[in-house]
Amino acid sequence: MAKKEAVSFVCSSCLATFNQWSGRCPRCMEWNTLEEQAPISISSSKLKTGRPLNILKLDSPLGMDSNQRYPVGFEDIDEVLGGGVLSGSVILLTGQPGIGKSTLILQMALNIAKNKKVLYVSSEETTYQVDQRKLRIKGSSENLSISNSNSTDDIAASIDSADYDLVIIDSIQTISCSWVGSSAGSVGQISNSAQAIITSAKSSNTAVIIIGHVTKDGSIAGPKILEHMVDVVLSLEGDRYGGFKLLRSLKNRFGSTNEVAIFEMTSSGFKTISNPSEILLDERLDIDGSVVTAAMEGSRAVLVEVQALVSATNFGYPKRTASGFDINRLNLLIAVIEQRTKVKLSSKDVYINVVGGISLNEPAADLAICLAIISAHLGTKIKKNLVIFGEVGLSGEIRHVAYVDKRLKEAKKLGFDGCLGPKTKENLSGNNQARNLAEIILNYF
Ligand code: TYD
Ligand code: MG
Repeated sequence: MAKKEAVSFVCSSCLATFNQWSGRCPRCMEWNTLEEQAPISISSSKLKTGRPLNILKLDSPLGMDSNQRYPVGFEDIDEVLGGGVLSGSVILLTGQPGIGKSTLILQMALNIAKNKKVLYVSSEETTYQVDQRKLRIKGSSENLSISNSNSTDDIAASIDSADYDLVIIDSIQTISCSWVGSSAGSVGQISNSAQAIITSAKSSNTAVIIIGHVTKDGSIAGPKILEHMVDVVLSLEGDRYGGFKLLRSLKNRFGSTNEVAIFEMTSSGFKTISNPSEILLDERLDIDGSVVTAAMEGSRAVLVEVQALVSATNFGYPKRTASGFDINRLNLLIAVIEQRTKVKLSSKDVYINVVGGISLNEPAADLAICLAIISAHLGTKIKKNLVIFGEVGLSGEIRHVAYVDKRLKEAKKLGFDGCLGPKTKENLSGNNQARNLAEIILNYF
């Protein structure tokens, strides 16, 4: 009787393999991550076929000439990429469904195709649909070829042919290798497809951009190893239904990960926003519960309005909701306000909204959140036209934050009287420094 081939199960989070399926990975303790993997047979005769490596001396630089970077037509994205798309590099672009990945990539492709040869392979949409999108963003280019395929083997062969300078794959979750048994989107298919494409890209020195889906919690769908394999990971973030869209790099082998490009989706594709602060503050009403903070998006400061609403709770358990701010951090800050000042919020619902679909993830936003809540609770707006930033500690103390000078410069540009922030060594002449929350309530409301 033929021996039955053993099926193994691989964890999509830590890549450990097991003989048996279980609901939770015994190694990394993640739930629902084990997936069936088709057996891979390696015959021992094939094991010793290696040859000595090709050796290069690094005495003289192997530097690439500058024309191997392809500018994408958006200055900000070029900065995020560290000077355009590098030939032979593999870029992974991820984002929520409907955020605009396909649109942004098509716009970049059309710009690059003005003087380079680009192939756009869509496995999600028909060529007609891609063409319709092209009409919408009013692009036209002779050097852009469009194809519809979901075969990794065919796509890798096209990359190998070295006929194109850039190949775009939309998306990695919908293509599959013929020699892997599992369905498209599985861990086995994604890692094998990515491996095949990366090998072809490197050997033919073709740049490749791969679009990837994200799961509900925002992480890249499929194996974590995908992020390790590619050279650059870009993430398109923001609110799906409006507001700003931010493109940031989470990993970049050829540049900094500190740059962010800010866009707005219009009826004809993405438009760069060069003055985000001005637009974010344009419709602001100067009332209680509204304060302005200077947040860092990559290496630039952006002025963002933080709004708070405090109302009497109708239930025994007060409700706390935040849009654009971490709910756990909000609960912590409310506890600090309660303990360190005379403001009592235990019978109040607290709602926080960060305007423009921006997410405030840095501790520097703490003080603005606290003062928005205190201002809404007291029904009094803060006395002066101030930009507010600073980390709030558990004792209610205001702590130092990074990039104070950049934040101040942006505030001055937009005509703010000054800033309310931590006591710092830097020269904050004309600005208001505070030691703790109680002191601010005394002096500024
Ligand atoms: P899409 O790029 O298909 O998103 P993804 O590939 O990330 O799933 O499109 C996102 C949304 O943008 C879609 O709902 C339609 C809208 N859109 C515009 O508002 N303007 C445009 O010019 C285009 C092409 C799309
Ligand atoms: Mg798409």
